[in-house]
Amino acid sequence: MKNITLGGSGVSVPSIAVGCMRIKNLDAAGAEAFVRSALDMGAVFFDHADVYGDGLCEEMFAAAVGMNASVREKILLQSKCGIVRGKMFDFSQEHILASVDASLKRLRTEYLDILLLHRPDALVEPEEVAAAFDQLHAQGKVRRFGVSNQNPMQIQLLRKCVRQPIVANQMQLSAGYANMLAKGLHVNMLDDVSVDRDGYILDFCRLHDITLQIWSPFQYGFFEGVFVDNPKFPELNAKLAELAGKYGITPSGVAVAWLLRHPANFQVVSGTTKAERLRECVRASDVRLSREDWYAVYLAAGNTLP
Ligand SMILES: NC(=O)c1ccc[n+]([C@@H]2O[C@H](COP(=O)([O-])OP(=O)(O)OC[C@H]3O[C@@H](n4cnc5c(N)ncnc54)[C@H](OP(=O)(O)O)[C@@H]3O)[C@@H](O)[C@H]2O)c1
Repeated sequence: MKNITLGGSGVSVPSIAVGCMRIKNLDAAGAEAFVRSALDMGAVFFDHADVYGDGLCEEMFAAAVGMNASVREKILLQSKCGIVRGKMFDFSQEHILASVDASLKRLRTEYLDILLLHRPDALVEPEEVAAAFDQLHAQGKVRRFGVSNQNPMQIQLLRKCVRQPIVANQMQLSAGYANMLAKGLHVNMLDDVSVDRDGYILDFCRLHDITLQIWSPFQYGFFEGVFVDNPKFPELNAKLAELAGKYGITPSGVAVAWLLRHPANFQVVSGTTKAERLRECVRASDVRLSREDWYAVYLAAGNTLP
């Protein structure tokens, strides 16, 4: 498994993180088998959120991994807070502290390796976030902090008050959802692709040593479905199949290798609940696509060059 350095922290983490949003779809035995397989293949970084299954995913994970002190020191746990499902986003000090306490309880651990603020809160007060982070850090409940789905100005606003480095920003990106990359190729053009939707977050994160964690690496649209083996994407799937043969990995693996080929050193958050599919991602992390093949996948997915 290829490792990357998390943000400017100097901490080495697996380039494939195991997203736990969907493990609620497994039964207890299935979750245990999946988590054990992940550990066997070196996938020791697990991505959670307080809202996944309304807390059930964190609880199921703790049971599946058989959480205890010796297990805990072998894994990296990330969780998120700030979404109150269907009602609001909440970055208040009170909510952040309460959410972390609840996640720690469900995960049966005393600390998170990383806490992310899940989605921007319109009513954010950076002083409150800073106070919450200070308290969590001082109490040893959270070691590092990051954000998710935030643009550069929102991160800068936090950084005005937050004392700990922001080490990660989790954003959606895939061959089928590539505006973050495509608009950087269409600068100053009159087409829709050139429209900036994220404040040039990719360049900002590279400039400031913030790791972009990539969510939904196989989805197109906003949870519209998986593009791999999807007849809606014949050209892309033909290219993924061709390169799978060339590099000795699977088509899903090529989709992962395509993300990891980017020099920003992304961490890919896989969402599968199947050990075999996770293994395809892990194998792909050691493959480096050529420049020509990277662009061929980009174009086959329907993205364009000016
Ligand atoms: N920060 C955020 O706002 C945010 C938002 C969404 C997700 N996330 C995180 O990102 C993780 C990944 O998101 P995601 O689950 O949407 O990502 P994903 O890996 O793109 O999608 C995984 C889903 O696609 C299915 N799938 C079908 N065919 C597949 C194939 N050939 N290869 C791989 N998967 C295939 C999987 O089913 P099987 O389980 O049957 O394989 C699973 O349901 C989540 O677990 C969560 O941790 C974060």
